Amino acid sequence: MTVLDWQELGCGVWKTVVGEQQDFTPLSWMSREPLFEALEQMQETTLPFAMSDIHLEAAGSSRILRLPLQEDEKLYGLGLHFMKMNHRGRTRYLRVNSDPKQDTGETHAPVPFLVTDRGYGVLVNTSRIVTVHCGSTVKLNETALERVKDRNNDRKSWKATPLSDYIEIVLPQEGAELYLIGGPGLMDAVRRYNLLCGGGTLPPKWGLGFWHRVPTLYTDKEVQEEAMEFRNRDFPCDVIGLEPGWHSKSYPVTYEWAKERFPEPKKTIDALAEAGFRVNLWEHPYVSPESKLYEPLEPLSGSYSVWGGLAPDYSLPEAQRLYQEQHLQEHVSLGVSGYKQDECDGSELTGNSWMFPSHTQFPSGHDGEQMRQMYGLMFQKMTDDLFRTQNRRTYGLVRASNAGASSMPYVLYSDLYDHKQFIRALCNSSFSGLLWTPEVRRASSAEDWVRRMQAVCLSPLAMLNAWGDGTKPWSYPEVEPIIRHYIKLRMRLIPYLYTTFAQYRFQGIPPFRAMPLVMDMADGFTVNETGRAINTTDGAYGKKTEKLWDDQFMIGDCLLVAPMFAGETTREVLLPKGGWFGLETGERYEGGQIIQVEPGLEQMPIFVKEGAILPTIPAHAHAQLPGEKVQLHLVHFGNKPGQALFYDDDGETFDYEKGDRCWAQLEVHGTGNSVDQGNEAFEGKLSEGLEALFSYNQVKWTFGASRLPEE
Ligand code: GAL
Repeated sequence: MTVLDWQELGCGVWKTVVGEQQDFTPLSWMSREPLFEALEQMQETTLPFAMSDIHLEAAGSSRILRLPLQEDEKLYGLGLHFMKMNHRGRTRYLRVNSDPKQDTGETHAPVPFLVTDRGYGVLVNTSRIVTVHCGSTVKLNETALERVKDRNNDRKSWKATPLSDYIEIVLPQEGAELYLIGGPGLMDAVRRYNLLCGGGTLPPKWGLGFWHRVPTLYTDKEVQEEAMEFRNRDFPCDVIGLEPGWHSKSYPVTYEWAKERFPEPKKTIDALAEAGFRVNLWEHPYVSPESKLYEPLEPLSGSYSVWGGLAPDYSLPEAQRLYQEQHLQEHVSLGVSGYKQDECDGSELTGNSWMFPSHTQFPSGHDGEQMRQMYGLMFQKMTDDLFRTQNRRTYGLVRASNAGASSMPYVLYSDLYDHKQFIRALCNSSFSGLLWTPEVRRASSAEDWVRRMQAVCLSPLAMLNAWGDGTKPWSYPEVEPIIRHYIKLRMRLIPYLYTTFAQYRFQGIPPFRAMPLVMDMADGFTVNETGRAINTTDGAYGKKTEKLWDDQFMIGDCLLVAPMFAGETTREVLLPKGGWFGLETGERYEGGQIIQVEPGLEQMPIFVKEGAILPTIPAHAHAQLPGEKVQLHLVHFGNKPGQALFYDDDGETFDYEKGDRCWAQLEVHGTGNSVDQGNEAFEGKLSEGLEALFSYNQVKWTFGASRLPEE
């Protein structure tokens, strides 16, 4: 048993290397400087146990990292997961996989960063598969006899999962870089992790508008007609996504325009830009023999093909250069705004197996296991770098990721389609520096359509993916006004969303937050008015009474979203302490309890904190273009004075990194003691003048609101 030698990198982050230092890891690939300044601004911290309680053990050819575990400790993170939020009692095999239908740990974006409600986290920085036993193992010589139960006669206390006092992480044989990340709270540990990875991403403003992906074989004419239909029907839309049919060949792909469908791509992109649309291109990693890139990339590729195409070794600078140059010349310089990086995850579970195998040899010396774990990260970084050379921000979709991705302008998605799982995934992604979209494709009914569209409009990327179904937002005419309303609500909230992402970018605070991140679980949240325990468990194994609230989440500091699901007319909502208003109902609730709501179909429960100052704009057809200025409407809620930070920049470039940005302080003072007094009782202050703001030419205030005013 070895006690490790941890070096403090600074500010509550410690590092050690086990075995040989690896040069191909998520963090080395990303090569982002940690945001030390922001880390330093956080309070100093220690771990909740002595470092000497962490052990490294040899077990055959493996090395096991053991960390202590308390009986009621909950374990979060480990990437994007659909089935559970608390991993306690589970074994997680963290392999990248596109079909995570089972609760094994395999997923599109496994991240070997585990964070616990004891207020610390541990990261294994490796390109290999890691297995994490989340309190699911007990060594023979440590088995307490009183914990051995008789299932024949004592079905109640016998449990399938043993009571374990430790987390065990199976490290890659050659070794790995390990990081310990302090709290003291869960949110602090997540922030430190994001800051270690270089901070969060700040999307361009247009990325926060509405997205629509058209059917795969659409021609340029059909694309433009459909785009214009959004304008004619008064549905905002910022991004049109083209699916495989824009390539001259697909599966494998050429990255070259299909001349029969897009004879003049620049003209098409310009015409769309003229009407305020950006174009996003679908692609996957596998290069067709018909592509001009095939010949130069062939010697730089893996020893197995995928669908007959090359799987290039992008850890080689020359392969990167070829990819980036081609993408710059044929897409980015034409005005393409970004990519959807599909199928960089690869399937193997469902009998439908198409990925290169683990024993694939790549010219760099890496093998198929490493390349698969890293592929999603590689495309994110290569394209982000490419757009950086043009001083343009991108925002796109990716189907695989890993550690170190918080600064990447990419949102995860899946072919799975269970709505509840989609919302859980949104919550879970917030622990691991990931973003997720519960994209909408089709629906089983108009009700399902509304419920999915409402939720996606309050997510990191509001998108209808009609590649296979040909759906449009107006596909269910009977609910068309509801869908329009939610897309417009999204557009109105862009300044708030943007500020929330700026907190992610500079302070590492996730924009979308699972409830355990925002509630002080120990403080006042044990019992509701009917006496039912709401977040404590009967020990770590009291599964039946445990409710984790993985079906609601917060956006930023003051909005709480509780999606509805088809077939359900009522739901419980856990409101953290303080006063809350139904954002559009105006009803006031006292927090620190569970409430029951019964929204009609036209409503998804969204709550806003009393004292919040919500920055909003009018819902235009698309997000503001550079230089375009609109009226900023600051809406203050309730009877209490309030304070908030507000962020703005040009919305498109990286100039903000050089200081072209504005953080303003919003403040509302006043004497109001009744919501009805509204504007009379309060006065507001914006610390910076209008000239400091990039996107606004007027400021309007509403004070003491109980609901978001009509436009
Ligand atoms: C899938 C992807 C879909 C769509 C489709 C096109 O892999 O998840 O969103 O892009 O490919 O073939």
